[in-house]
Amino acid sequence: MKHDAFPELVLGSAMWGWTVGRNTAFQLLDYFYESGFRSVDGATNYPIDKNPGHFRLSEQILAEWTRVNQVNDLRVIMKVGSLDNMRSPDHNLTKSFLLLAMDHYGALFGGNLDTLMIHWDNRDDEAAIRESYEALAIAQEKGIAAGLSGIRRPEIHALVNQAFGLDLLIQIKHNLLYSDYERYAPFHGKRRFIAYGINAGGIKLEKENYTGKSSLIVRGGKPDEEFANKVRSFLNALDQRSFPAPLTSFNQLAMIHAFYSPGLAGILAGPSGIAQLADTIQFYSLLKEGAYASVYGVLPAGNQG
Ligand SMILES: NC(=O)c1ccc[n+]([C@@H]2O[C@H](COP(=O)([O-])OP(=O)(O)OC[C@H]3O[C@@H](n4cnc5c(N)ncnc54)[C@H](OP(=O)(O)O)[C@@H]3O)[C@@H](O)[C@H]2O)c1
Repeated sequence: MKHDAFPELVLGSAMWGWTVGRNTAFQLLDYFYESGFRSVDGATNYPIDKNPGHFRLSEQILAEWTRVNQVNDLRVIMKVGSLDNMRSPDHNLTKSFLLLAMDHYGALFGGNLDTLMIHWDNRDDEAAIRESYEALAIAQEKGIAAGLSGIRRPEIHALVNQAFGLDLLIQIKHNLLYSDYERYAPFHGKRRFIAYGINAGGIKLEKENYTGKSSLIVRGGKPDEEFANKVRSFLNALDQRSFPAPLTSFNQLAMIHAFYSPGLAGILAGPSGIAQLADTIQFYSLLKEGAYASVYGVLPAGNQG
């Protein structure tokens, strides 16, 4: 990750090999890279489409793109520990398994590998968690940053990390309907959080814009009409005369929310095609110019988990 005064845009790959085919993923990577961005997020279990034949497909697409284009300056975040892509809680976070993962991704991505994250940890056992940190500390010695994602007991992690002093990056679900930020209070105080799910999995403001391929639908989510109505009313009532471009989409509001949230080092974008990525990048540059700062404090909020 870069260490700027504002959150960096990170390209997500959760849907690659699922609703986003290899060719589209290649186009997204081309566009993202050519626009000057370098941070890409992956996980062993992407895509989590419960098709065993797709296990590790997303990482293979990313690795192939780096090979074909001879790219060595990406900053790839890999979340590790999962044993399948069935959305099962089965995972292995032992020291030896994490070190194997580090070797695997070092071989697959070479110098592009930036960060190794523990992915989904339901453990209460402090000694077992400490063992995982021994592996993360070895990774950090080799120049690979360490991180966390989907941790049930952040306070135990914070306690264990007192002995290791790792400069952890942490992915959290953070959007207008729900946020994990408060759960990670022991880690507050530094820009170390990366927001995912900023569109709450793919909210559309108009019901007719959902299709059978919509991210929200294929991932088992349900459109929330009440919240969509609230957002539409908010946009209709908003005085937009001073803005460089009108606010029209939920993704734009989601990005304003993430951009100005405290503690964020990164915003995960999960575009399903080039038009969405282009829109996200263009809007991100307007945010960097401060164009929508006044909107953050008045954004509509929902109350879903
Ligand atoms: N740490 C974790 O446990 C964790 C969990 C989840 C995700 N992640 C990471 O975060 C990334 C993003 O997560 P997410 O997919 O849940 O994010 P999200 O932003 O909540 O949902 C992405 C969906 O929002 C819609 N969208 C995105 N950009 C848009 C735009 N510019 N205009 C209109 N609609 C837009 C698309 O829906 P349609 O495809 O329906 O158009 C897209 O598939 C993932 O790829 C993954 O790398 C991490």
